[in-house]
Amino acid sequence: MIADALHERLAAGQTPPIAADPVALVIFGGNGDLAHRKLMPALYNLHVDGLLPPRFVVVASGRKSMSDDEYRAFARDGVARFSRRPLDEAAWKAFASSLYFASATLDDASGFASLGSRLDTLEHERGIPGNRIYYLAIPPSLFVPTVRQLAKSRFVPPAPRGDHTPFARLIVEKPIGSDLQSACDINDRLAEVFHEPQIYRIDHYLGKETVQNILVLRFANSFFEPLFNQRYVDHVQITVAEQEGVGTRAGYYEQAGALRDMVQNHLLQLLSLVSMEPPHSLDADVIRDEKLEVLESLRMMTAADVDANVVRAQYAAGFDLGAPARAYRDEAGVNAASSTETYVALKMYIDNWRWAGVPFFLRTGKRLPKRASEITIQLKDVPPILFNANAAAPLGSNELTVRIQPDEGFALGINSKVPGPRVRIYPVKMDFHYGSTFGGTTPEAYERLLLDVMAGDATLFMRRDAVEAAWRFVMPILDRWSEQRGDLPAYPAGEWGPPEADRLIEATGRRWKPL
Ligand code: BG6
Repeated sequence: MIADALHERLAAGQTPPIAADPVALVIFGGNGDLAHRKLMPALYNLHVDGLLPPRFVVVASGRKSMSDDEYRAFARDGVARFSRRPLDEAAWKAFASSLYFASATLDDASGFASLGSRLDTLEHERGIPGNRIYYLAIPPSLFVPTVRQLAKSRFVPPAPRGDHTPFARLIVEKPIGSDLQSACDINDRLAEVFHEPQIYRIDHYLGKETVQNILVLRFANSFFEPLFNQRYVDHVQITVAEQEGVGTRAGYYEQAGALRDMVQNHLLQLLSLVSMEPPHSLDADVIRDEKLEVLESLRMMTAADVDANVVRAQYAAGFDLGAPARAYRDEAGVNAASSTETYVALKMYIDNWRWAGVPFFLRTGKRLPKRASEITIQLKDVPPILFNANAAAPLGSNELTVRIQPDEGFALGINSKVPGPRVRIYPVKMDFHYGSTFGGTTPEAYERLLLDVMAGDATLFMRRDAVEAAWRFVMPILDRWSEQRGDLPAYPAGEWGPPEADRLIEATGRRWKPL
C-alpha cells in the first residue's frame, strides 16, 4: 500500500496528463485483436480512474457490420479477459454507454459515409465539437489507403489555428514500413494529410512505467548521471526476452523477424533513453531531439561488422516450462524452410563524446526461458589494488539493473564485507521493487499512451525522423542477411539463445547477465 507520506508527495507533485477536451476516438480495426486485448481494457481502466474526458465517445469501425450491442459484448469480453482490474458491473455499464460501432470500407468514395453520419450524430448529442482521434489499429498495408480515404471524405480539418478549431490526431501502430524506403514512403503519404505534430506513432515500450522511469532515475537523482559515460561505464546490456513463441501472428512475423519486430523499435528506444544527453526541458520535442541524436550517432555497420557483431537464430523444438514446445518452423502458418530469425544479439557502439568505445550488447528473442526485460549498466572495475589486488579472485563489478518487466524495479550491485574477523567481500544487491513500494497494479502502457494523445502530449511517441534513423541503422544488417544463404543457427525452445550469442559477448571478456 502507498504510505500516507507518499500520497501527500504525489498529490503535491505532478498530476497525470489532463485530457479535458471533448473528443471522439475512432478506432479503425476496432473489432480486431489489438482493440480486444489492449485498447478496450486500457480505455476501461482510464474510465475507472476517472481520467477520460467528461465528453467522450468511442466509435469502433471495421469492414463487417456489427450492432452497438454486439460490439459492446466484444469489448466486454476483452475487458473481462485482459483488464488489469476485474470488471465491475456498474463501471462497465457507464463505460459501455460510450461505445459504438459503425462499419466503414475502403472500396468506394462513400465507404466512410455511414461512419461519418454516425460520428456527426454522436458528436452533436454529446456536445463534442468535432475533435477526433483516428486510431489505425489495422494492418500496415491499410495505413495509407485509410488516411487517403479520411482526406477524401473530409474527415480531417486543417491544422488547428486557434483554440477553437477542432483537432484531428492520428495514431499509428508499428510497424512503420519493413525497411527504410517503405517507412519513408508511408511517412510521406501520411504527411500529405496530417502534419507531423498531429501524428502519434506508437512504440508501446515507451508507455511502460519502468521505461518512463529511466529518465527519472537518470535526471532526478545525483547518483547516476556523473557515472553515465565512457570514463566509468564498462558496457551496457539490454535484454528483452519473451517466453512465448510466435503464437497466432506467423503471417506478420514471417515477414518481420526479431530485428524488425523488436530491435528497430523497442530496443533502440530503450538504448536511446539510457544513453541520451540530459534534455534542457521536458518539452516533447526537446526530449525527442536528444533521443534522435543518439540514433544518429550509432556506428553504422559494414558487412564485415554485421558478420562479426550480429547473431541471428531461430528456435528449434524444445521445452516451455517442462512441456514440449515445437520448433518455429513447425508453428502454424510458418514456412517449413523459414529463415526468419526469432532471436537477435548484437554488439554496437554510440560514436559520441559520452559513449565512445563503450560496447552496448542487445539481445531479444522468442521462446526463451522466461519473460524478462532488463537493462544493466556495468561500471568499470576498481583498480587492482587494495581489495581488488588478487587477480585470481577479482571483485564483482558495480552495476545498475533496471527491471522493465516483470517485477518492475531496479537494483544496485555492490560489494560488501562479510561479517567476521577476516576481510571477505561478497557482492550484494540493493533492490527496489515497484510492487512493494507503490502497491496495486501498474497501469498498462496503452493507458498512458491513449491519455497522452487525448492531452496532445507527444513525448512518448515516435517522431518521423527517429523512425527513419532507426531504420537507417538496421538497414546494413538486413542487407547483409539478404545476401547470405543457408541455415540460421538454432537454439532449443526454452533456452537462452544460441552459443554464438554467448561467444559474441564472451570474446570481449564479458558475460550476459543471468535473468
Ligand atoms: C510487439 C511485438 O511490439 O511487442 C511482439 O510485435 C512482442 O512480437 C511484443 O511479443 C512484446 O511486448 P511486451 O509488452 O509483451 O513486452
